[in-house]
Amino acid sequence: MSSVDTASRAEELRNALVDTIIADHEAKGLAMRADVERALRTVPREVFTPGVPVEDAYANKAVITIRCGPETLSSVSAPYLIAEMLGQAADALGGLEGRDVLEIGSGGYNAALIAELVGPTGRVTTVDILPEVTDRAATCLAAAGYNGVTVVCADAEHVIEPGRRYDLIIVTAGAWDIPPAWREQLTDDGVIVVPLRTFGMTRSWALRRSGDRLVSQSHRLCGFVSMQGDGAHEMRYVDIADGVHLRLDQGQQVDPAVVAGLLTQPRREAWAGVSLPPRTVLADLDLWLPARLTREVAEFVVLSAQEEAVQSGIVAPAWRFGTPAALDEGTFSYRSALRWTGGMFDLGAYAHGPEAAAAAGRLVEHMLAWVDAGSPAPVLHVLPARTPDGDLPEGAVLDKRHSRLVLAFTPDPEEGTL
Ligand SMILES: C[S@@+](CC[C@H](N)C(=O)[O-])C[C@H]1O[C@@H](n2cnc3c(N)ncnc32)[C@H](O)[C@@H]1O
Repeated sequence: MSSVDTASRAEELRNALVDTIIADHEAKGLAMRADVERALRTVPREVFTPGVPVEDAYANKAVITIRCGPETLSSVSAPYLIAEMLGQAADALGGLEGRDVLEIGSGGYNAALIAELVGPTGRVTTVDILPEVTDRAATCLAAAGYNGVTVVCADAEHVIEPGRRYDLIIVTAGAWDIPPAWREQLTDDGVIVVPLRTFGMTRSWALRRSGDRLVSQSHRLCGFVSMQGDGAHEMRYVDIADGVHLRLDQGQQVDPAVVAGLLTQPRREAWAGVSLPPRTVLADLDLWLPARLTREVAEFVVLSAQEEAVQSGIVAPAWRFGTPAALDEGTFSYRSALRWTGGMFDLGAYAHGPEAAAAAGRLVEHMLAWVDAGSPAPVLHVLPARTPDGDLPEGAVLDKRHSRLVLAFTPDPEEGTL
């Protein structure tokens, strides 16, 4: 193929990918911003995925670039996810033109998109902890003509460019906490978009700074490679059956011997008897449940399962990549897959163990309470670790190393306004 043919094939694939992303946005009830669409139609993703066939460069998924055993250390992120996060950032700031942006986690592709969005009057710095990633990002950015992007190799847990403050920090690795350096590097009303784990589940939160606090403006379901360096927090898994795991958060202890036979006990179920409206955001229910359950059960955990385990029927989680579940005195319960009754999708719970019927019923009561409250979306408040209880907003409190996170649900689905 001549270089002209290759370039026009890449452009054709790029436009088809953007059309797919727009359709995906619409299916989720999101609107694609014109500026983000323009950037996606401009940046040649194939330049940032050298050695990968052009068809794969324009598949709507991450291109893995560095692995360590079964773990992915680095990738060029999935385009639909990058598009959603850039949309969150641009919505929160009223557009990105002329903005000063720090990207944490480099691949080159997202930095190039941000360079398009900020334009000639903006500035972009991208930082990665791995030198092979920053070397490759710098080479690819130069090859694509984005020479204005500053590429830094450092652990972004700490301040990157002392004295500099950013309108936007966009984090592209999964974080467990918000280190003080991130807040301090933001301008007074700057925004950070960060995939943050709360109750073992990750959402991309757009958080606006107000003094020493951050409040969410929007959130999206997402998954990312984990943060490394000084802010790393391991996630552990305990098997409860072949291909079925419990995901444990920092500090959680579960005895593998106690949970090993749980699913072999008879299954009890409960159903809410609701008719879910289209586009109900069940990812919000999945944060509502731990916000309520952590006060009542011994352990809130996240259930994940391999496709084969779901096919075998041993487990039927709502979402096999991460479903809210509870462990209490030998009884295990979780949000089940939706039930189609011919005219409606219904919410339900499955449980195993001595108190299975009561546990399934309790989970469903919490689901009904969420539906009755108008299916509220969570608002996340991030406060410094030293904040006294009396100064916290109303909500479920989650203490991390540097921050106190408060997840609040209000009947109004609009997120925090500040
Ligand atoms: C999903 S990749 C980034 C993708 C990229 N933004 C793109 O354009 O597609 C996540 C990156 O975060 C980096 N990372 C993890 N922990 C880090 C840390 N503490 N400081 C800086 N970078 C980090 C990893 O090395 C990895 O390259």
